Amino acid sequence: MTFVASVVQEKGGAGKTTLLASLASLLSERGHRVAVIDTDPQRHLESWAAKDKLAIDYLYEENDEKLIPTVRFLKKSEPAFDIIFIDTAGFKSAMAMHAIAAADLVLIPSKANEADAKGAVRTHSHVTSVADTMGRSIASTVIMMDIDPHTNITQSVVDAIDNQGLPRLQAMCGHRTGFKEMTSTGTAPTGRAKVAAEAILDELLTSGLIKLKEDAHGKA
Ligand SMILES: Nc1ncnc2c1ncn2[C@@H]1O[C@H](COP(=O)(O)OP(=O)(O)O)[C@@H](O)[C@H]1O
Ligand SMILES: [Mg+2]
Repeated sequence: MTFVASVVQEKGGAGKTTLLASLASLLSERGHRVAVIDTDPQRHLESWAAKDKLAIDYLYEENDEKLIPTVRFLKKSEPAFDIIFIDTAGFKSAMAMHAIAAADLVLIPSKANEADAKGAVRTHSHVTSVADTMGRSIASTVIMMDIDPHTNITQSVVDAIDNQGLPRLQAMCGHRTGFKEMTSTGTAPTGRAKVAAEAILDELLTSGLIKLKEDAHGKA
């Protein structure tokens, strides 16, 4: 079984690509087989993946109608991928809808500002509507990115998200310059950025939101 996690948020710049690259690279470092599908025409993920520092397979898919067949194709790879991550552009689109439809879990990053919080609420409702159309449940969770934990704005955005009843990870990712370095080096996050990303990954794994089979490649 290959797990599929899509990173979706209607608001651009909320931390989608940063979150995806961090989780994908940490899982790869832990010995898991990881593939990433970039569906954002801006291809920000590609410049990170193209540095080829990690054993991660990168694919770009521009045709929304081909996304699910591409995922199906990757799921048949031998040896099997443990997880496929799908990155999306920061606007509501047919591609975002297909990325949600393909997913076992939708990750919704949000920075601590009102525009991102509104985007998170709209994205969550998009997930609910796709799940409804498909007649299945699709897990999703908001992940706070690039925050300063001791500010009023962080607290008020977190409260706004919680008051809307959106699922949210307890672990929050603080502002760490290491994430910008990661993009230029093509590696996993290091230093304090790594610690922050690991807290998020570990909560996703221990809560069962991400389910990975335990096998020869590594353990969940
Ligand atoms: N935790 C963080 N600490 C510092 N910078 C961050 C953090 N999360 C995201 N950023 C920065 O915010 C910007 C937008 O993030 P990005 O992942 O490209 O968003 P998106 O893919 O949603 O458009 C990037 O410059 C990225 O380096
Ligand atoms: Mg992006």
